[in-house]
Amino acid sequence: MKPSIVRKQEDMTETPVRRARLGVSKISKTFRVRGLGGQPGGLLPVLRDISFDVYEDEVVSLIGESGCGKTTLLRIVQGLIRHDAGTISVDGTEVHSPGRDRGFVFQQPSLLPWRTARENVEFGLELQGMAAAQRAEKAKELLKLVGLGHAAEQFPHQLSGGMQQRIGLARALAIDPSILLMDEPFSALDAQTREVLQKELLRIQAETRKTILFVTHDLDEAIYLSNRIIVLGAKPGRVKEVIELPFSRERPELPEMRGDPTFQAIRARIWELIRSTPSAS
Ligand SMILES: Nc1ncnc2c1ncn2[C@@H]1O[C@H](COP(=O)(O)OP(=O)(O)OP(=O)(O)O)[C@@H](O)[C@H]1O
Ligand SMILES: [Mg+2]
Repeated sequence: MKPSIVRKQEDMTETPVRRARLGVSKISKTFRVRGLGGQPGGLLPVLRDISFDVYEDEVVSLIGESGCGKTTLLRIVQGLIRHDAGTISVDGTEVHSPGRDRGFVFQQPSLLPWRTARENVEFGLELQGMAAAQRAEKAKELLKLVGLGHAAEQFPHQLSGGMQQRIGLARALAIDPSILLMDEPFSALDAQTREVLQKELLRIQAETRKTILFVTHDLDEAIYLSNRIIVLGAKPGRVKEVIELPFSRERPELPEMRGDPTFQAIRARIWELIRSTPSAS
């Protein structure tokens, strides 16, 4: 008989007490929007009272319909957008602006076209004032980690979309953040490349033990990558349900996981939650 991919109950209860690496507490945000054609503007409540923690060495996904505020929330966590209420904390200390403790991976890697892969990865280190030889060494190490050791001296236009996204990941890892914030990092890639990179991300997370907050539209991706999934409702965005995933770390590849009844049941539950999103206001 095939071993179950679901963690044993005793393994779950034996989980040691974990520390919250990232704390999101009672976050609310309303945008002021301009009116159309001379009409008066208005207020757009986007996030309401969002609270959750992400523990060290944990991958948490945010999932919810388009426009429910996922990117806004991630940018608030990053410190790029001000929230109206609530607090963001890293290791128990409140943060108000971007910092080296949080690295960001975008949907499009937006690499500098005149810089090689290595020089793109070095960018953040250069801003920190690290010496040239040292940062080149570090960038090469990171490119190796993301499977691009052979392409360090190539320019972005010489690389595929998947390779460029790997550079985006290496660039975010370069400042050695304890938290990675990832906003649909694989959504612009073809299905095959996407599955390869999902697997790679799990490997890199296991090697680096980073805490990851991951935004995606893709239910299978969220279930495959995460320890927990936070399902957001819309208008305004709010936490609908937090789903703890029962899978062990050593999980098979996604195509095989899709056949597992627990996987299917969780998928059906999330789908039901996303579909039944009445406005909260
Ligand atoms: N700077 C802004 N000013 C005004 N409204 C904004 C601003 N940024 C985002 N919004 C609005 O806030 C809402 C949430 O946007 P956000 O980009 O966070 O959604 P999302 O969940 O990431 O969507 P998607 O899944 O399509 O990426 C949308 O209605 C959007 O139009
Ligand atoms: Mg978004």
